[in-house]
Amino acid sequence: MSAPIAPLLSRRDVIAGCAALGLATAADAAGEPGLAEVAARRGILFGSAVAWGGQGSDTGSFANPRYAALLERDCAVLVPENELKWQATRPGPRLFDFARMDAIADYATDRHMRLRGHTLFWVPPQWYPDWLRDHDFGSRPAQAVEAMLVEHVRTVCARYGSRIFSYDVVNEAIQPETGAIRDTVVTKALGGEAMLDLLFHSARAEAPHAQLVYNDYMSWERGTEDESHIRGVLKLLEGFRKRNTPVDALGVQSHIRLLKSDPVAAIVKESAGPWRRFLDEVVAMGFDLVITEFDVNDRKAPADIAARDGAVADYAQAYLDIMFSYPQLREMLVWGLSDRYSWLEGFDPRADKLPKRGLPYDREFRAKPLRSAIARALAGAPRREPLRPAG
Ligand code: XIL
Repeated sequence: MSAPIAPLLSRRDVIAGCAALGLATAADAAGEPGLAEVAARRGILFGSAVAWGGQGSDTGSFANPRYAALLERDCAVLVPENELKWQATRPGPRLFDFARMDAIADYATDRHMRLRGHTLFWVPPQWYPDWLRDHDFGSRPAQAVEAMLVEHVRTVCARYGSRIFSYDVVNEAIQPETGAIRDTVVTKALGGEAMLDLLFHSARAEAPHAQLVYNDYMSWERGTEDESHIRGVLKLLEGFRKRNTPVDALGVQSHIRLLKSDPVAAIVKESAGPWRRFLDEVVAMGFDLVITEFDVNDRKAPADIAARDGAVADYAQAYLDIMFSYPQLREMLVWGLSDRYSWLEGFDPRADKLPKRGLPYDREFRAKPLRSAIARALAGAPRREPLRPAG
């Protein structure tokens, strides 16, 4: 194992760091329990995405004392935001680099937090490392792709062993517009279904202790693409069951979107029924559910901060209440804790250029109404059997 990239901080360091900065987390100040604790009482594991510490201290990383204070307050599970993706771990066809992921894994282990593996393969080519995008797989491309994928799964699973208890084995295989498996240099070589099956069978063989998840961003909003995306995911899941592909759970990314200026209640009303029907079908096939990447895209929510935070919180709670009504859902991860580092800022900016407010804490690490809404949804969830411990 390589040495940690950034010095690891003890809880005492974090508290001292916060004191030095004149900070207390808003949750501490309010004397409220952490979200992980509220969730655990209901049999739910709560956590967040995190970045490694190598890009300076003003990042969504454990090496940032202000961010680490939030992680240690609220999280029982972490997931690397980018550090286990091929762009980070596969600098060349025959090269692996786990320095960044190791730093996160060491931190999680040190803090007795659990760890999810995101992801063994992210299907859309825009996220491939450059060398893979137009790689020449030679005269026998099927064999070459198969060898590459199996080697990848084996190498990752052997390195992290029981430290990773759950993998997003495949991320985003469905093309939302068509509902079909995406056509890429990798899926084409083996055929989409065969390629996905290979990844899941390899993961089961190499990490028999782990929960194996198919992860995607089909969402409850009612656009045309949402419909075809959902139909495509259902078809994919049916195929997994028919072929006995070892898939344990559907990862519902849950990047929910306030993309209409309608009142929140009206948006929720049109989404709730069809979304429940989708989830009913998923659990009827025997899949568990995981909220893997929760945040709220507030692109069309009001500019006024109080109104916006209220709309985001209400929208989130309506969604989470539905999700937690399913006892098959036992993990919820947010895609970061503070708006300061949210990926949504770059991915889908507001027309008025105001900073987005889709995560539980604001840019100054103060708790927002969204944090309270998440706490309420967790506290109101029916108690369920927690996941069995890893390994
Ligand atoms: C995002 C990260 O947050 C960004 O930092 C990166 O530039 C692109 O990827 N769905 C996923 C995540 O499965 O891996 C994505 O993460 C967000 C959408």
